[in-house]
Amino acid sequence: MAKQVKTIGVLTSGGDAPGMNAAIRAVVRTAISKGMKVKGIMRGYAGLLQEEIVDMSSTDVSNIIFRGGTILYTARCMEFYEASYREKAFHNAKEIGLDGLVVIGGDGSYRGAGYLSELGLPCIGVPGTIDNDIASTEYTIGYDTAMNTVVECVDKLNNTCQSHERCSVVEVMGRHAGHIALNTGIATGAVQIITEEIPTPIDDVVENIKKIRESGKDHFIVIVSEGYGNPVEIATQIQEKTGIDSRATILGHVQRGGNPTLKDRVNATRMGYYAVKLLEEGKTNRVVALQQGNLVDYDIQEALRMKKPLDMDLYNM
Ligand code: F6P
Repeated sequence: MAKQVKTIGVLTSGGDAPGMNAAIRAVVRTAISKGMKVKGIMRGYAGLLQEEIVDMSSTDVSNIIFRGGTILYTARCMEFYEASYREKAFHNAKEIGLDGLVVIGGDGSYRGAGYLSELGLPCIGVPGTIDNDIASTEYTIGYDTAMNTVVECVDKLNNTCQSHERCSVVEVMGRHAGHIALNTGIATGAVQIITEEIPTPIDDVVENIKKIRESGKDHFIVIVSEGYGNPVEIATQIQEKTGIDSRATILGHVQRGGNPTLKDRVNATRMGYYAVKLLEEGKTNRVVALQQGNLVDYDIQEALRMKKPLDMDLYNM
């Protein structure tokens, strides 16, 4: 029989993502409803090392389901690359009586959870990143909100582009993954989507724009994923080679903020709930994932080995 889980911790780690608060809320309230105590670890793994830990009640997570960011703060903890620090974190977790830990974050955060599980602290990862670059799951918390933010911004750029008959080159986030670029490019009617996975040469981009201009179009949106290259250089080249007045816009961290969409709130809530259930069942070293609308879970190392290529059908379309 699984050891009774009396106290669990929850932390957010890596880049923040809208919906993380909804996940924290779900973890806290599910655990409390099952008679567990919950401790909030501040600033990701750094909080575990520096013992920045707070008791969390049901009311502590009131009025956060609609808020972007993370009430627990977040950080990328470089010390976790060293075994001695991971052992210290494990020791601290045991000192405060943690029987389990829910880690909300991306691949890097999963690695940390894997190490702590190995040391003997049951950990469950919940996918939280706007990039949707976690291969084990079709969907990550924050992805939908970030893409809707991009669409809203690019629609605005499109208005001014049309008035001035310009080309707007827009850089979107995604680190080394082009999922945001691909989907927002489709949703905004971009004439070209450039990602690290499909690094279209600038001359092909120029030829494409020229061809589209011949068909009568007078303004153009090009979406570039941040891993590809400098959007200012791309805009300059387009202007020089086509004569079309061009501007570059880097959307940047605006994509990480804002109230989470319904989709992010509901999925984050489902995932937080599921993570606590896994801990209650005595599971460890697992990550929560969404596959064809259903919640499933995988071994952390297996999840980290998976690959998530860009959807080429979508790209070709
Ligand atoms: O992983 C989320 C993300 O926003 C990436 O899209 C981006 O490359 C990175 O984080 C930016 O990190 P930082 O907030 O540290 O600048």
